[in-house]
Amino acid sequence: MEMLNVKDLTIKFGGLVAVDHLNFNVKKGEIVSLIGPNGAGKTTVFNLLTGLYTPTEGSIVFEGKELSGMRSQDIVKLGIARTFQNIRVYTKLRVVENIMVGSHIHTDYNMLDAIFRTKRFYQQEKEKYEAAMAFLESMHFAEKADMYAGSLPYADMRRLEILRAMASNAKLLLLDEPAAGMNPQESEELVQFISKIAREDGYTILLIEHDMNVVMNVADRIYVLDYGKLIADGLPAEIKTNPKVIRAYLGGNQ
Ligand SMILES: Nc1ncnc2c1ncn2[C@@H]1O[C@H](COP(=O)(O)OP(=O)(O)OP(=O)(O)O)[C@@H](O)[C@H]1O
Ligand SMILES: [Mg+2]
Repeated sequence: MEMLNVKDLTIKFGGLVAVDHLNFNVKKGEIVSLIGPNGAGKTTVFNLLTGLYTPTEGSIVFEGKELSGMRSQDIVKLGIARTFQNIRVYTKLRVVENIMVGSHIHTDYNMLDAIFRTKRFYQQEKEKYEAAMAFLESMHFAEKADMYAGSLPYADMRRLEILRAMASNAKLLLLDEPAAGMNPQESEELVQFISKIAREDGYTILLIEHDMNVVMNVADRIYVLDYGKLIADGLPAEIKTNPKVIRAYLGGNQ
């Protein structure tokens, strides 16, 4: 069964149909890529999937539950987390603190506990810290735990953003142009990392990306959007040679 099933998804902004009766699905453990020209509607799809926008029409079913109309914070709890096209990490917090902020670990201390730094507050913060450190260890990022996020090299900052999404207890990761601004070596490392978290750690990935080397190397399947509409879908080898895709996108992109 599909993990994510999107049917007839549509959103209009005034006269503009940014996403137009879009159908696609993602199976558990897959790496699926969403590609297409600037303004095609890719990020808007992520905004719909995460509850930032409400669809004008259509449905989004994740593990059997309808998401459209749900609030963002409830969607996160179901296990969908995203990264942003324009990187968003807390630059003035340390790496480990960025992970703690994104962490799913439940705290039940209240504001007074936090203000007066009660035992309960310290205990729970300590547990959160330890869980975040263990997670960073497992992801080979622990040596950077104490660095300020803002002082990381750019590629590591992007990596941190993905790690933070993972630490929110996500099953499905939505990555919006994670290779943007990376050099070829960094984007090759990103390909290795995305493959690893899907194949070994069990994450399912929906990836928006303009870097076709990344997409063709990492995606199991690809959907191509143009003016909000699906114009093609298939295996990387099929998409690469699809005349419609070349005309709309790849021709001007390579
Ligand atoms: N909140 C909004 N209000 C009005 N128009 C919007 C809104 N969000 C997106 N759009 C429009 O919807 C279209 C799709 O935008 P979107 O950001 O999804 O494109 P994209 O495929 O992610 O492009 P890029 O590759 O440049 O990131 C664009 O024409 C954009 O201007
Ligand atoms: Mg975008």
